Amino acid sequence: MVEAERMRVCVIGTGYLGATTAACLSEMGFEVIGLDVDEDKIDMLRSGRVPFYEPGLDELLAENLKTGRLHFTTDFAEAADFADLHLICVGTPQRDDSGAADLRYVNSAVECLAPHLKRPTVVVGRSTVPVGTAATLAARLAALAPAGEEAELGWSPEFLREGFGVEDTLRPNRIVIGTNSPRVEKAVRALWQQQVDEGTPFLVTDLQTAELVKVSANAFLATKISFINAMAEVSEVAGADVIQLAEALSYDDRIGGKFLGPGLGFGGGCLPKDIRAFMARADELGVEPALSFLREVDAINQRRRARTIDIARQLIGGNFAGRTVTVLGAAFKPNSDDIRDSPALDVAATIASLGAHVTVYDPQALERAREAHPELNYATSMLDAARDADVVLLLTEWAEFREANPEELASVVAQKRIVDGRNALDPTFWRASGWTYRALGRQ
Ligand code: UDX
Repeated sequence: MVEAERMRVCVIGTGYLGATTAACLSEMGFEVIGLDVDEDKIDMLRSGRVPFYEPGLDELLAENLKTGRLHFTTDFAEAADFADLHLICVGTPQRDDSGAADLRYVNSAVECLAPHLKRPTVVVGRSTVPVGTAATLAARLAALAPAGEEAELGWSPEFLREGFGVEDTLRPNRIVIGTNSPRVEKAVRALWQQQVDEGTPFLVTDLQTAELVKVSANAFLATKISFINAMAEVSEVAGADVIQLAEALSYDDRIGGKFLGPGLGFGGGCLPKDIRAFMARADELGVEPALSFLREVDAINQRRRARTIDIARQLIGGNFAGRTVTVLGAAFKPNSDDIRDSPALDVAATIASLGAHVTVYDPQALERAREAHPELNYATSMLDAARDADVVLLLTEWAEFREANPEELASVVAQKRIVDGRNALDPTFWRASGWTYRALGRQ
């Protein structure tokens, strides 16, 4: 391994995690090569365009391409020749036939890279994988690489939030590296030296613990959201207000207020599939009961979608057939164009399947939404989407919707009825403008 300051890094996979990681590491001063098997993606990145929406990443990519420190390739031989440290950042989606993680992309990354590793090299996985995967991959890497045991593998999970990917990479709240190799630890420490010097905790664990840190963090976050959503269910029937309840809970700093936002629940490319893959792995390990509570967490989350649809149906008199419905939001959360397991789109598609004429507007995710759900109608502004609506549903809390003017929206709808699926609006304000306002967990 060459000296830290001259360490050259390869990032395998240039999706949301990989592209962000590659641009940020280059920004931190490393020479970086981003590798992907998708030629179109690599062409886009080479020309300075990010294939998805992530605030701040376009600028960072363009600036770092100019420095000459950041390159992209589709060639594993070139990447192996160039880099001393390889970071695996490919996706681990949910399998079609079960809740388990689909490991074909991580397996393939190791299998394609290993035959080119002729000198001592460190490979570090960052993808979210079922516990036990890294040990298998480490053995496979050593078996396939000409460098043999000198090609070493560690696992260092990432904790990036979409919409804050750049910030979370440049200023991570912790670095975890699973390894028992001093060389792997040294390389990962060198990568984050600047952040560690500034106080970022650096934890060295075994492979299994590192893998578990990521899935248990996401399981905890999902549980927190479903906990408050369960309280919303109780609040609705008991005549309580879940927003006041959440605020009162948040002042106990053992509980805290983050991820205690009641509403339509969690979606995206991580939390839903990670809890399902975690349950599937626990089942394989024979400890299924340890995680059976996650089944309930998932069920509470799914019920939020059904409840949102019920509230909208009640508001329009019990039947969606032939009614005009506006859905504000398609991305799974604001500041993202990611529609994977998006609660908003799921609700929109279900309402359309019940016979309503559904029009969706989202500030960033329209193109992706249209591709995935051609049966829905799309508008390019909030007001256009809301024209002649019998009911408006706010399902992703973009700032544009939070700050919507009830008077202005009232001038285009057929009926002033709104379902606030994210508890993002001030009910008093909206009711004062003549709107019938309904939300989850409130009266
Ligand atoms: C998550 C984890 O936060 C991150 O650490 C991990 O690396 C990847 O998974 P992300 O999927 O980008 O990140 O989204 P996040 O901000 O965590 O939100 C997940 C979902 O929970 C969203 O659909 C959001 O709307 C929902 N959510 C969040 C709530 O419903 N209520 C809350 O209080 C917070």
